[in-house]
Amino acid sequence: MLNIRFEQAKTLKEKPQDETKLGFGHIFTDYMFQMNYLEGKGWYDPRIVPYGPISLDPCCVVFHYAQEMFEGLKAYRTADNRIQLFRPDKNIERLNRTNERMCIPQMHPADVLQAIKALVEVEKDWIPHSEGTSLYIRPFIIATDCHLGVHPSKSYLFTIILSPSGSYYAAGINPVKIIVESEYVRAVRGGTGFAKVGGNYAASLIGQQKAEELGYAQVLWLDGIEHKYIDEVGAMNVFFVIDGEVITPTLEKGNILPGVTRASCIDMLRSKGYRVSERPLALEEVRVAAEEGRLNEAFGSGTAAVVSPIGELNIDGKTLVINHNEIGPIARMLYDELTGIQWGRIPDPFHWVEPVCKG
Ligand SMILES: Cc1ncc(COP(=O)(O)O)c(C=O)c1O
Repeated sequence: MLNIRFEQAKTLKEKPQDETKLGFGHIFTDYMFQMNYLEGKGWYDPRIVPYGPISLDPCCVVFHYAQEMFEGLKAYRTADNRIQLFRPDKNIERLNRTNERMCIPQMHPADVLQAIKALVEVEKDWIPHSEGTSLYIRPFIIATDCHLGVHPSKSYLFTIILSPSGSYYAAGINPVKIIVESEYVRAVRGGTGFAKVGGNYAASLIGQQKAEELGYAQVLWLDGIEHKYIDEVGAMNVFFVIDGEVITPTLEKGNILPGVTRASCIDMLRSKGYRVSERPLALEEVRVAAEEGRLNEAFGSGTAAVVSPIGELNIDGKTLVINHNEIGPIARMLYDELTGIQWGRIPDPFHWVEPVCKG
């Protein structure tokens, strides 16, 4: 159990009035959680302090060798004004798996959950009320040792910041256009694809930039070895429904981020009797299935969009329209069920919801 100290802010920010203009990742709340680590001492000085700049020495390890990690989850306000999280245990498990890969010390799961809940409770008035809005929670860790030379740091800073975010589908669910990246790769076997680290996203920027220039929302990454199998989309895992089989790329090779939404979609689908396979999925299999009219639908899954139908896939310059560019029945069902549980509109038979406090 952490003994969290609290430092009162001198002034508080004005909260956004117009919840339709929240967007994503632009507005941050009044406070942040922080805790330090030092080898031999462990994690220490848990505190909730006014949100503000972090002062670091220019030689800090994080600036040069990118020893850092992050997570992303949301707090939801229910219609009867309760504040809740969705499967935070999954994010915390992933945090520790990322830490292990990045030589960052492990954290006590109960401490991380306590820190998230404590900060969300302090900032509960920042959680928007409108349909589909939420409070995005961004925990992250940076290596703070001051030296040049490629070695794991002996000191770290753990921080949690919060950002009220708007409804992803304010204008209704819109299928997205995705382009298959044929030149660059995001992850390779043995690399850091399964971990949530900034370096993965830095390496993906060039592909994302190319995609946007061509009018596509995101990139579909192929495996880094054969360039043949589907890995995932920029910030989403992917599902393809072929002949009624719901297929999502296997996590076994360690090059795909194990999404919390992905796991929830699989559990939800299996509970309803759908045939779900986690297996290698060649791009060619998708292309042929589409050609033969056996590709029923495709969608991405992630915390931001929950489920995002893929309406168009560009493979080597050829456009493949999926399900007439409309949301498919499986994506619709998953979206309704998952958002229903997250915003407390329907019962939670899986016990995925973690209550925080009254709103
Ligand atoms: C690369 C990548 N894949 C998949 C996901 C989906 O993961 P989750 O469902 O945990 O949000 C994300 C989301 O952050 C991501 O960045």
